Amino acid sequence: MNKLRAVALGCAFLCAVPVMGQLDRIPPPSSSNPLTRDVAAIEAGQRRFRQLCSSCHGRDGEGGQGEGQGPNLMNSWEVRRAKDAQLFSAVKNGVKGTLMPAFPLPDQQVWELVGFVRSLNAPANSVSVAGDAAAGEAVFFGKGGCSGCHMIRGRGGYLGPDLSNIGAVRRISELRESIMNPKELPSEGYRPLLLRFSGGRQLKGVAKHYSNWSVQALDENGELHLLRGPAMDNVVFQSKTWMPTDIAQRLTAGEIGNVLAFLSRQSVRPDGEPEPRPRAGGDVR
Ligand code: HEC
Ligand code: HEC
Repeated sequence: MNKLRAVALGCAFLCAVPVMGQLDRIPPPSSSNPLTRDVAAIEAGQRRFRQLCSSCHGRDGEGGQGEGQGPNLMNSWEVRRAKDAQLFSAVKNGVKGTLMPAFPLPDQQVWELVGFVRSLNAPANSVSVAGDAAAGEAVFFGKGGCSGCHMIRGRGGYLGPDLSNIGAVRRISELRESIMNPKELPSEGYRPLLLRFSGGRQLKGVAKHYSNWSVQALDENGELHLLRGPAMDNVVFQSKTWMPTDIAQRLTAGEIGNVLAFLSRQSVRPDGEPEPRPRAGGDVR
């Protein structure tokens, strides 16, 4: 209810803008942020966000904790459907009737903030990510050990998800989170297990499919095993995901930034083309 009123007020305010003769300062709603693809601008926006906005919206826009705090600005449908000019106005003029204050900063700085807020809601490949992608590729396939488990365009391992299109389907904040703070509970299709073979040999694997009667396991070499009945005793499920939880300790901040730049550029389709619907069944790659 409150929210609805706030939105209505925001709109009333926007509509009033031309009457107030500020058209030269606030672009019409169709205009878009001139800085969306400018790395330095988005980074400047992020720094300013932490100074001015984090007290209410959280450090990275994840939303404030207390009552009456700023809403989550990440992955927010309201932000996504808002025109750039509306976001611009919300920041520059505040949202009347709510706790969102006005920030009468120079236009350039407001656009930087809008660019940063947009980057929280757009796939990583649609915003510019700072960092050296070529150096990140070297870390991914070298020191970082990522390619031991992840494939990109046919190169790499099998235990983790294929990352060839990851820049098109994840926001940069999500990529950062999966690396810096991976969740221990595995996702469907990546439940970790060990496969024991006669002679004591053992391989890591993930369950692509399992039930009380059978397990379909993909091992670290890319071989698929179907185990039924007594053979299932050779499968030892693990509780924690194979995704390492110590990457933030093993790599420097610069190396992680470079890996993020590299991953953000991984996309199999040119910008703007819609993702195909997932194939029915067959999640085994
Ligand atoms: C004093 C707390 C506070 C501060 C500081 C603050 N905000 Fe907000 N912000 C809010 C609240 C509360 C709302 C929700 C307004 C509403 O109900 O529509 C909001 C809404 C917004 C929205 C609109 C979200 C939407 O759903 O469309 C944007 C964008 C935004 N804030 C960006 C910023 C930026 C950028 C800064 C820093 C320059 C900032 N805010 C600082 C409290 C705050
Ligand atoms: C030992 C295997 C292993 C290694 C090494 C590994 N990962 Fe992972 N990674 C996984 C698994 C398994 C998952 C899926 C976790 C889940 O959701 O259950 C995953 C998930 C991810 C995701 C999330 C993918 C998505 O769909 O959102 C990213 C991003 C990622 N890894 C990046 C990296 C990077 C970067 C490195 C190297 C610094 C790395 N991983 C090293 C196994 C690994």
